[in-house]
Amino acid sequence: MTSSDPEKRLMFYGRRHGRRLRPQQSAFLEQGLAQFALDPDLLTDAADLDPRDWLRPASGQVFLEIGFGGGEHLAARAHESPDCGFIGAEPFMNGVARLCRHIIEGELDNIRFWPEDVRLLLPSLKDHALDGVFILFPDPWPKSRHQNRRIIQPQMLDVLARLIRPGGSLLLASDDPTAKTWMLEAMMRRDDFHWTARSAEDWRQPPPGWPGTRYMAKADRVGRKSAWFTFIRSDHA
Ligand SMILES: C[S@@+](CC[C@H](N)C(=O)[O-])C[C@H]1O[C@@H](n2cnc3c(N)ncnc32)[C@H](O)[C@@H]1O
Repeated sequence: MTSSDPEKRLMFYGRRHGRRLRPQQSAFLEQGLAQFALDPDLLTDAADLDPRDWLRPASGQVFLEIGFGGGEHLAARAHESPDCGFIGAEPFMNGVARLCRHIIEGELDNIRFWPEDVRLLLPSLKDHALDGVFILFPDPWPKSRHQNRRIIQPQMLDVLARLIRPGGSLLLASDDPTAKTWMLEAMMRRDDFHWTARSAEDWRQPPPGWPGTRYMAKADRVGRKSAWFTFIRSDHA
C-alpha cells in the first residue's frame, strides 16, 4: 500500500467499541440502526445524493454533525428545530446507542445517522447538500506526529466547502489549545469560508441555542476553556 492509497488515507484511529452495552442500550441500538441508520448501499461515485430526500424537512434545511459522540447536541438541535433535518456521523457504537436512545425516547423523526467514518459518506453527497456542519470537540491528537489523524485537514475542508451551500455555516469547537490553533490556522488559509468573529467575546461564548456536549462538560469540570469558531461559506470561490 502506498501513502497515496485511499484506504491508508481513510484509516480511522478512534474507538469503535467501548464498554459492553447493557441489554437496554443494545435494544435501543438495534431499533435505532434498523429505523434511522443510513444504508451503506446508498454510497455512490456520482456525488449526487441529496439528504433532503431522506428527511424531507419542511424548511428545506439539513445539518450534519461529524463525531456526535453521545448525540446529545444533535438530539437537542433536532428537538428545537423540528422543521430541519439532521444527519450525524459517529463510528463509536456506544455513542451511537446513546443517540438511538435520544431519538427513540424523544420521538425525533428528523435525524438520520451514519454509524461509520464520515469520510466514507461525504464523497457521495451532492454539491451544496448541507446548510451547516458541526464539528464539536474533535479528538485533538495533540502530538505533532499524530497530526494526520486530526479530522480537520485541508482535504476535509475542500469537501466541506463543496457540500456547504453558500451562506451556510461551519461550527468548530474545542477546549484543546493545540486543536484550537490547528483549526484556526487551517481555516485562515481558506478564501471559501469567512470567520464571523468580530471580537474575542464571539469565540469565547457559545453560539445562540448552544445545548452543550459531553466533552465540553468534561472540559468544564477540569476548568479548561472552550472556544467556538463559526465560519460562513462564502458566495464566491
Ligand atoms: C472527543 S469526541 C467528541 C464527541 C462530541 N462531539 C462531544 O463534544 O461530546 C470526538 C468524536 O469524533 C468521532 N470521530 C472521530 N473521527 C471521526 C470520523 N472520521 N467520522 C465520524 N466521527 C469521527 C470519535 O469517534 C469521537 O466520538
